[in-house]
Amino acid sequence: MKIGNIIIKGKASLAPMAGITDRAFREICSLFGASYFTSEMISAKGLIYKSSKTYSLINHSEKEKPFAVQLFGNCPEDFFKGIGLLEKYMDKIDLIDINMGCPAKKIIKENSGSALMKNPKLCGEIVKAAKGISPVPVTVKIRAGWDEKHKNAAEIAQICELNGADAITVHGRTKEQGYSGTSDLEIIKKVKENVKIPVIGNGDVTSFETAEKMIAFTKCDMIAVGRGAMGNPWIFKEINEGRKITPAISEKVRIMKMHIQKLCEYKGEEVGIKESRKHIAQYIKNIHKASEFRKKAFLTKSKEELIDLCTTLQKI
Ligand SMILES: Cc1cc2nc3c(=O)[nH]c(=O)nc-3n(C[C@H](O)[C@H](O)[C@H](O)COP(=O)(O)O)c2cc1C
Repeated sequence: MKIGNIIIKGKASLAPMAGITDRAFREICSLFGASYFTSEMISAKGLIYKSSKTYSLINHSEKEKPFAVQLFGNCPEDFFKGIGLLEKYMDKIDLIDINMGCPAKKIIKENSGSALMKNPKLCGEIVKAAKGISPVPVTVKIRAGWDEKHKNAAEIAQICELNGADAITVHGRTKEQGYSGTSDLEIIKKVKENVKIPVIGNGDVTSFETAEKMIAFTKCDMIAVGRGAMGNPWIFKEINEGRKITPAISEKVRIMKMHIQKLCEYKGEEVGIKESRKHIAQYIKNIHKASEFRKKAFLTKSKEELIDLCTTLQKI
């Protein structure tokens, strides 16, 4: 499929997850066929204030292609200025994605993320501003709506399309649901029926069966996998090949070690080890003696110690 002029090969992209889908994890997912990648969410204002932490989130490699930078904010001018400031990075950025789905309190408080869905006019103005300056396609990620009574995803998608959006990702939960309950396939279907631009379905894809069900039911053009990829980057291969993939423990250990190496390389050993732990907990979720292993992993003090510990998993 194509978003604007960007060709995307494969059915399953990696959904953005702040604190999880950093460069290390995106590179791991690229090994297994994730079809495109998005940065963790970045503050449009942070770009304007020249925050170095904000800019560091743009870093990525050639392995994560196509690559979208996701921005959040509440004001069209911030998007316009922020995207303008990305000019010198644009040869490496393939798409700009606008976050209209985040339910986190501190984001909602400043009327960003899913709070934007309460103000359809503003959603249109933000897309228009982004399109007015962006040299690359602009996509939008939305939720079903604010709450059960206000499931306006189809309306918001249409407004975004009218203002030039090149694709829409829909997570079929409302803001009120957060991450509880289930993602509504009906609303994704409704969005797909309401717009001509590509629609990316999102929410609760954890296997090739759930991916196929979402595509068949909603007729969406592609899917985005979030939590289903945590500790299971093989899910992209599973979806692309349409068959169950259960990695052997030796393969899990190989990828865990690679993941730790990458995290330590990109973030330094101290932060790398700390962040590795949450991923390790996911990789070992269903294995024998997982909690014992997790406890040991929390006590490790160096990269070498953590990697050696992973090797012992093969002997359990
Ligand atoms: C820890 C975490 C962080 C997330 N961060 C972002 C984010 O930065 N931007 C965004 O658009 N969505 C974010 N999401 C939402 C996911 O992209 C996705 O829409 C949601 O998890 C539903 O898909 P899933 O069921 O495949 O996980 C986040 C989700 C989680 C669990």
